[in-house]
Amino acid sequence: MSLCVERGELVSIIGPSGCGKSTFLRCLNFLEIPDSGVLRIEDVEITKQTGHGWNRAQERRAHALRAHVGMVFQSFNLFAHRTVLDNVMMAPRSVKGLSQPEIEPLARALLAKVGLEGMADRYPSTLSGGQQQRAAIARALAMKPAVMLYDEPTSALDPELAEEVLQVMRRLDDEGMTQIVVTHDMRFARAASDRVLYVEAGHIVESGDPDVLFADPQDPRTRRFLRTLL
Ligand SMILES: Nc1ncnc2c1ncn2[C@@H]1O[C@H](COP(=O)(O)OP(=O)(O)OP(=O)(O)O)[C@@H](O)[C@H]1O
Ligand SMILES: [Mg+2]
Repeated sequence: MSLCVERGELVSIIGPSGCGKSTFLRCLNFLEIPDSGVLRIEDVEITKQTGHGWNRAQERRAHALRAHVGMVFQSFNLFAHRTVLDNVMMAPRSVKGLSQPEIEPLARALLAKVGLEGMADRYPSTLSGGQQQRAAIARALAMKPAVMLYDEPTSALDPELAEEVLQVMRRLDDEGMTQIVVTHDMRFARAASDRVLYVEAGHIVESGDPDVLFADPQDPRTRRFLRTLL
């Protein structure tokens, strides 16, 4: 799979279960070490060659690269025994070594941005799923990433709560954030994306403008997939 995402783009990745969407996303963060490939984000470039191991220098660079990447999962993955505010402040404190007074204003501003002002001192279990996912987005933003990755961010949510999360992603898009979203929400993929990729069996089958891809798919595999959804 080869992909170049422009700054400020919102790219949706769609495709059948097991086609490799999550694996691809995890490779962009080196949560998964690819067999081979080249990845560049901002000023960090990493090459992995087939048959070669993963050495300490590469891991150091992967660490630097991860600082540019925020990731949001289907299952929120908030720390249950920490308040919402603590969840947002944790990474900047432990990774960047910032003190609470340094980070708290930004953390509170991010909570306001995702519509969670007044919820800073709550524990995750007292929030709705949509609120938890928005807290997870604020937590990822606290590291000031260059790109946000989402793996089915709304799949665990009722439509109404999903909409609150999608609104936040649209707002980030308006502000120029670069976002790559694996989603089963075709309505969102069509309405909000600058580009959609249809993936099947580990390959990008078709990519392009969402209105074109959904209305007039060129590849028979894309057509078949979209037909099964109707
Ligand atoms: N490290 C790995 N090495 C080899 N195969 C893997 C590895 N990780 C995942 N797979 C396999 O790769 C395929 C793609 O899995 P992946 O989870 O990326 O699919 P997906 O498109 O995200 O599916 P879903 O829509 O169900 O989430 C699966 O068959 C999975 O078992
Ligand atoms: Mg997946």
